[in-house]
Amino acid sequence: MREKPISLLWGLRSHCASHGCLYCYFGTDDEHREQVPTRLGVLSHLSPNDLTTDQVLEFAATLADSPVGRVFLAGGEPLLWKPINRLIGILKAGGLEVVVCTSGVALNRPEIREPLIELGVDAVSVSLDSADPVHNDRWRPPRREGDGWEAVVSGIIALIEARGSAPRPKVGIYSVITRRNLADIVAVPELAAGLGCDYAVPQPIALDTGHRLSAILSLTSDLLPELTARFDDLYAADLPLVLPERAYADQVASAVRRPTDLVPGCFGGDTLYFVQPDGTVWDCPSGLKIAATPPQRHRSLKGATARELFRAPTGCGNDCALFSVDCVNMWPLAGFPALASTGQEASRA
Ligand SMILES: C[S@@+](CC[C@H](N)C(=O)[O-])C[C@H]1O[C@@H](n2cnc3c(N)ncnc32)[C@H](O)[C@@H]1O
Ligand code: SF4
Repeated sequence: MREKPISLLWGLRSHCASHGCLYCYFGTDDEHREQVPTRLGVLSHLSPNDLTTDQVLEFAATLADSPVGRVFLAGGEPLLWKPINRLIGILKAGGLEVVVCTSGVALNRPEIREPLIELGVDAVSVSLDSADPVHNDRWRPPRREGDGWEAVVSGIIALIEARGSAPRPKVGIYSVITRRNLADIVAVPELAAGLGCDYAVPQPIALDTGHRLSAILSLTSDLLPELTARFDDLYAADLPLVLPERAYADQVASAVRRPTDLVPGCFGGDTLYFVQPDGTVWDCPSGLKIAATPPQRHRSLKGATARELFRAPTGCGNDCALFSVDCVNMWPLAGFPALASTGQEASRA
């Protein structure tokens, strides 16, 4: 096991000034304008309860002295939060690996892009759902005209150019796969390889069965033959970038099949934790798991140190009977060392 084996997926801010993605984990502003959800674990872009900047930075300073070795900074949109560079500076000074998860548009701005390189960010994961701009912008509509597919791609190109021959940050694309864009399981990694990216991850959409878009977008078991064939094509394509390990395709398929089986030794709550913008700390982002967390296990970053919150993992994980499609998006995070390795350099050599 790594010396500091724990990773945090940290949803830093609720607000997203970048896009209004229709399937976003945070819901849409329209849905929540009448009433911001108050149910435990339910995210909203309109949440009034985000930690203050001081609370975020004070907690971040305690991470160096803890078993946490890697932080995925997600959102809302982390690159549009003004203190982001102060946070990254504290994390890097503490010896942590930092992966920034972004909608990508902000990478076009030199004052946002350059510090990522100067501060030594380890990887930047950009969200782009499709090789087809129309599909992407239909489901990931930008808030400002001109901030759609083209701007995301130009942001990726700008970051790769600015990085030059430096080894970091690695740059990758995460794409949300729905029943409407199965072809993007292959097409987006092909696009990513063409742009010079280091890794690509097709991630299945996670929607509650009651979500208004579930019937339109969710992956269902009738699609399994095509889903499996697309993943086979992807791994056979031998693209010059890093993909999640081959077993990931089977994990996606089993999530789509929605088994009720126990997941033995899940890393959630052992080597991976999920932090929400209000500072609450959960074993993983599964809505089922959060709802089932007993009150005595409700925890927050507020006033706590990382050492108090995260004990050294067993490495054996926890058996979990609350498997859901939300879980699949944690697997490529748990496998991140492979993603952030030297795929691109290997292909250049
Ligand atoms: C919530 S976003 C935060 C970071 C940044 N704003 C972005 O879009 O990359 C993190 C990732 O979750 C993905 N995502 C959001 N809602 C999702 C859903 N319902 N199912 C699967 N992935 C989702 C996004 O596409 C993105 O790759
Ligand atoms: S850009 Fe990211 S945080 Fe914003 S709506 Fe889209 S997925 Fe959600």
